[in-house]
Amino acid sequence: MKFFVDTADIDAIRDLNETGMVDGVTTNPSLIAKSGRDIMEVTKEICDLVDGPVSAEVVALDHESMLAEGRHLAKIADNICVKVPLTWAGLRTCKILSDEGTKVNVTLCFSVNQALLAAKAGATYISPFIGRLDDLNLDGMDLIQDIRTMYDNYGYETQILAASIRTANHMKDAALIGADVATAPPGVIKAMVNHVLTDKGLDGFMADVKKAGIKIL
Ligand code: E4P
Repeated sequence: MKFFVDTADIDAIRDLNETGMVDGVTTNPSLIAKSGRDIMEVTKEICDLVDGPVSAEVVALDHESMLAEGRHLAKIADNICVKVPLTWAGLRTCKILSDEGTKVNVTLCFSVNQALLAAKAGATYISPFIGRLDDLNLDGMDLIQDIRTMYDNYGYETQILAASIRTANHMKDAALIGADVATAPPGVIKAMVNHVLTDKGLDGFMADVKKAGIKIL
């Protein structure tokens, strides 16, 4: 499973990138607002930092403006992936940009039908939001499984990008289902390493290192 980092925080991306955990980056208007930076400027900086796709989201709602924004964003760098919302205007924009050779991430997906429409519009990625469904006492992971089944039924090449991930367990479940990509905040990716037995085992080894005076260098 590929890991995308869901942030516009340059330091956090750089930190994780050094561990080989960054296959791409996703942003959205809320994350750009949180960074306090100009969207074009911060997105360019992210594109220079990582090799993989960097999703940058349009902010217009009508098709014409969305398309103009998407084309403008696509000029930032070769690894830009234009993010559009799952509306008819977004799907129409997705079809045109995909035909032009631009990668498109269709976001705010909450149903199998929406994912089907995005695949037919040529989306590179579909972003089903797990956490926001869980917030409504629904099961976001069921949606990932159902989209996996539906895409596999027909051999759609649109990649499932599990989004709105809130916990390390979400990462595990998405991987077991076979999501192509999961995008998560840096803190969630970092939390995946945690295990109490790893900490306990290391404490034991370090106690013996001290007791026996073991040195390697
Ligand atoms: C990523 O592409 C999404 O915009 C993001 O995962 C949304 O996450 P949230 O529901 O935690 O805001």
